[in-house]
Amino acid sequence: MTDQLIIFDTTLRDGEQSPGASMNKDEKLRIARQLERLKVDVIEAGFAASSNGDFEAIQGIAKAIKDSTICSLSRANDRDISRAAEALKGANRGRIHTFIATSPLHMEKKLRMTPDQVFEQARLAVRFARNLVADVEFSPEDAYRSDVDFLCRVIEAAINEGATTINVPDTVGYAIPELYGTFIKTLRERVPNSDKAIWSVHCHNDLGMAVANSLAGVKIGGARQVECTMNGLGERAGNCSLEEVVMAVKTRRDYFGLDVGIETQHILAASRMVSQITGFVVQPNKAIVGANAFAHAAGIHQDGVLKARDTYEIMRAEDVGWSANKIVLSKVSGRNAFKQRLQELGAQMESESEINAAFARFKELADRKSEIFDEDILALVGSESVARENEQYGFVSLSQHSETGERPQASIVFTADGKEVKSSSDGDGPVDASLKAIEAKVQSGAEMVLYSVNAISGSTESQGEVTVRLQRSGRVVNGVGADPDIIVASAKAYLSALSKLQSKADRVAAQG
Ligand code: KIV
Ligand code: ZN
Repeated sequence: MTDQLIIFDTTLRDGEQSPGASMNKDEKLRIARQLERLKVDVIEAGFAASSNGDFEAIQGIAKAIKDSTICSLSRANDRDISRAAEALKGANRGRIHTFIATSPLHMEKKLRMTPDQVFEQARLAVRFARNLVADVEFSPEDAYRSDVDFLCRVIEAAINEGATTINVPDTVGYAIPELYGTFIKTLRERVPNSDKAIWSVHCHNDLGMAVANSLAGVKIGGARQVECTMNGLGERAGNCSLEEVVMAVKTRRDYFGLDVGIETQHILAASRMVSQITGFVVQPNKAIVGANAFAHAAGIHQDGVLKARDTYEIMRAEDVGWSANKIVLSKVSGRNAFKQRLQELGAQMESESEINAAFARFKELADRKSEIFDEDILALVGSESVARENEQYGFVSLSQHSETGERPQASIVFTADGKEVKSSSDGDGPVDASLKAIEAKVQSGAEMVLYSVNAISGSTESQGEVTVRLQRSGRVVNGVGADPDIIVASAKAYLSALSKLQSKADRVAAQG
């Protein structure tokens, strides 16, 4: 067994399955570049057969990313597998990840197949995939609730057909750390050819134990690949969080005795990027990447940390991308200082024209805000404005009036397909009036299922980052907007969500 732990990131596939988290091709590519910077070993870029958009996103990522293995999910059928292989053609290293459910419940109720049929389909799928690529991962979906004897049979056959990685999903987050670790150990002991494949863990967080279960799968079970997502993004309660699992293995190397190749100083920038693109806000007390993860409020703690930081800190904030010096730039800062700060934050941009565009946005912000914090810079290079340039609706200007005892009024100018639209409305509050003014013209008929405001850098001088989640005909989308004025941020977020709602969605659900 090797001492290297493979980090398999599935933010762009399993993470994207969270309601409203779907990403376009450019957004996926930006995240993939950041994952490559992090030195993630395998990037699961999507599910090629699910939509043309996902196919093209995987294709683009396979061409652009050279240091990480690029993987596509596929159901266990020839069409899906061919589509995955086609999308991965340009990759330096491509992997097909094929799966079929093996639990009695899934086989009977979802697939309506007998165990023998599932066994045969799994075997043929791996064989077919291995004829197309050398690197094939097989997942028995809902493995943790499967019959162990049957599971051993299926896995043995998959390895015989050439599967190079065997992934053991706890699809519904039902496992308990000790039991899951022992489950992996048992499988490895009982499957006769288990040493011919790398074993992988894939845990969902329904009981809040995805990270603990994954670590038990590694420590007790001997798995050498962990499947995870940035910020633990994923359906329902999410997946195992990349930043937590990586920092646990690094910080407790004394216990795990394993190496991980992740360049942890890029973690925070990756976390911010994923949060901004998907609209899934990171809770302040989230380990590693939450705003309070390294903040010491209690006087006794602050005193201890000032005397010797390891009294209360087990990791260095800088090692995951937090900067000790938080006020970084102002309107007198030049392009070089801005570019250097981007690099220090692990958020460097690809081309000079992208840097110039981001610098122009920085100058515009610095004119309105005296101190620019790291978080502001990360927001500037996030989905805000970058992706927005291609959106159907764009923010132009807003004025609003609110006074105690009077009903607030808002007037807004925005673009729809490049044409300026003006609208006014009243509302229960200034945000409500602004969004009603937009809705009066767009008439989307969408229901708002979430509205949240988050201060990017924690004070009233901070930019507000607003997330709006809209739902229409069963489709859910998120829009994010940031601005020192939270009413403007709200309008930007709403316009962004409306743009996403209008874009085509023709996806096939992976586990449906
Ligand atoms: O949770 C799960 O079972 C999955 C598989 C498709 C690997 O995501
Ligand atoms: Zn999953």
